[in-house]
Amino acid sequence: MTTDSLAGRSLIEPDDLSLKELDRILTLGAHIAADPGRYRDVCRGKILATLFFEPSTRTRLSFEAAMQRLGGTTLGFAEPDASSTAKGESLADTIHTVSCYADIIAMRNPKEGAALLASRHSEVPVINAGDGGHHHPTQTLTDLLTIRSVKHKTEGLTVGFCGDLKFGRTVHSLIKTLARYPGNRFVLISPPELELPEYLVSRVLKPAGIPFTTARRLEDTIASLDILYMTRVQKERFFNEEDYLRLKDSYILDKAKLNLAGSSLAVLHPLPRVNEIHPEVDSDPRALYFRQVQFGMYVRMALIALLTGAPLPEENE
Ligand code: NCD
Repeated sequence: MTTDSLAGRSLIEPDDLSLKELDRILTLGAHIAADPGRYRDVCRGKILATLFFEPSTRTRLSFEAAMQRLGGTTLGFAEPDASSTAKGESLADTIHTVSCYADIIAMRNPKEGAALLASRHSEVPVINAGDGGHHHPTQTLTDLLTIRSVKHKTEGLTVGFCGDLKFGRTVHSLIKTLARYPGNRFVLISPPELELPEYLVSRVLKPAGIPFTTARRLEDTIASLDILYMTRVQKERFFNEEDYLRLKDSYILDKAKLNLAGSSLAVLHPLPRVNEIHPEVDSDPRALYFRQVQFGMYVRMALIALLTGAPLPEENE
């Protein structure tokens, strides 16, 4: 039996976790990254359901790979048309049903608040794998583990967020979380139409006294950054195609711009990328986005193990 405070809990947004709990998950994620084979039987006999009502490559496969690498199995669907949602079933009923089959559920849904609703109708933990433009807590865990691996801390950093700060849920979740650590400052780089939502400025940044500046050009600020978090313009959340086409290539990180940055800059991107990072940047040691993908799987292994209350090898030592 485990006495971990995380066992049986759902994760809907990063604020659901105390800083101590965040640290617990990240530390376990780092241990798993260092020796994944040691954890290969931790979830044997357990089932993860992945319910994806919105397209995904990385997040769904990352969850499935994570559960399989813990010795568990997975079931689910990758598009709503393949589920009873197409027949008009409510989300509440779908979740109630699936929670009779699985030990834990990872769900992505285009509607903000869907994950919270799901957790209220589930008998088992629900992990929000993205709800509309709202939150994406496991991407935040991924980002934090990546930052910790190169900077050895998550505080006292100057972090630039570049691209679609309005609709990007990964940005919203990460900003809210980094704002909880002391000494972080933000540079918000976007076109005027894609600025960070006002509620994050007035309810998160200002009350916490976080220093932040806004910028229009990446070239003007890149030299001041410890971390550059690039994002895709979120096509699927635009109301009209014309605006998307006008804004989609607002920022493109290429070698020329990267040459203006410091040698210890870490470039992150939740992926998928469209045009915003030129492939010529991929071979630069500061480009961390593919390592980030790997950390995403390890941190999801940690999260699944802790939420399902699985016995960990370190507890038997
Ligand atoms: C992100 C998402 O789905 O919000 N992708 C991901 O989970 N890695 C970012 C994006 O789609 O732009």
